[in-house]
Amino acid sequence: MNAPLLSVHDVSRRFGGLLAVDRVSFELHAGEVVGIIGPNGAGKTTLFNLLTGQVAPSSGEIRLRGALVNRLPPHRRARLGMGRTFQIARPLAGLTVLENAMIGAFARHSSLRVAEARALRVLEEVGLADRAADRAGELTLSERRRLEVARALATEPDLILLDEVMAGLNPSEVARAVALYRALHQRGMTFLVIEHNLKVVRSFAGRVIVLDHGAMIGEGRPEDILAMPAVIEAYVGRRPA
Ligand SMILES: Nc1ncnc2c1ncn2[C@@H]1O[C@H](COP(=O)(O)OP(=O)(O)O)[C@@H](O)[C@H]1O
Ligand SMILES: [Mg+2]
Repeated sequence: MNAPLLSVHDVSRRFGGLLAVDRVSFELHAGEVVGIIGPNGAGKTTLFNLLTGQVAPSSGEIRLRGALVNRLPPHRRARLGMGRTFQIARPLAGLTVLENAMIGAFARHSSLRVAEARALRVLEEVGLADRAADRAGELTLSERRRLEVARALATEPDLILLDEVMAGLNPSEVARAVALYRALHQRGMTFLVIEHNLKVVRSFAGRVIVLDHGAMIGEGRPEDILAMPAVIEAYVGRRPA
C-alpha cells in the first residue's frame, strides 16, 4: 500500500485542565472519504485545527505525505494541499462573493487574473456564480456555507476538511452538496468530514471515526460504527427508562 496522505500519531491538545484531543491516531490514504462523528465538545473541530495548523499539538505527530508538519503555519499546509472549511462561516461581509473566493485562490496564485479565474470556476462548481458580484454579507446561510466550501476549493486541495458544512441545510441543499462532493471525490479529492447528518455519513464515508471527550472510541465501516450503542445513544438519545 502507498504511504498515507495524512498520518496522525498520538496527537493530543490540552487547553488548561481540559484534554480537548486525547492521543488520537489514524491514517488517511489518498482517495479516501473518512467521516468524524461525536457529540458537541468531543474535540472534532480542535482536531481539524491541529491538522491545518490553527492550533499547535501539545504532543504527537502530524505528517502529510510522510513529512512532519506539526510546526508549519496554516498557509504552508494549504500550499501542501490541505484545504478546510470553518464551522462558523464568516466571510468578509464587505467584500464580494468573488473577492472572498479569491482569498482562497491567493494561497497558490499571486496573479490577480489567475486568482480571479480560479475563484470564478469554484463559484460555478458550488452554484454561486450568479452571486459573484454581490456582497458576501447578503448571502443566506446555505450560500455562506457554499462560499466557505468555494474558498477552500480555491486553494486547490488534495485533502479537504469539511466541518459540519451540511448544518442548517434543507434536504435538497444537502443532496446538492453531496453530489458536488461525490464529483470532487471522483476527480481524486480526499475527504475528512465532520458531519452530524448520519445519512450523509452512511452514504458518503468509507470509514468513520468516533470521538468522545477528545479520544477515539471507534473506527471502522459506517455500518458497524453507526450500530455502536454509544453512537446510537449519543445521536438518537437514551430511551426513557
Ligand atoms: N481555543 C480554545 N481554548 C480553550 N478551550 C477550547 C478551545 N477550543 C476548543 N476548546 C474546548 O475543547 C473542547 C472541544 O471543542 P471542539 O473541538 O470545538 O469540539 P467539537 O467540534 O467536537 O464540538 C470543548 O470543551 C471546547 O470548549
Ligand atoms: Mg465543532
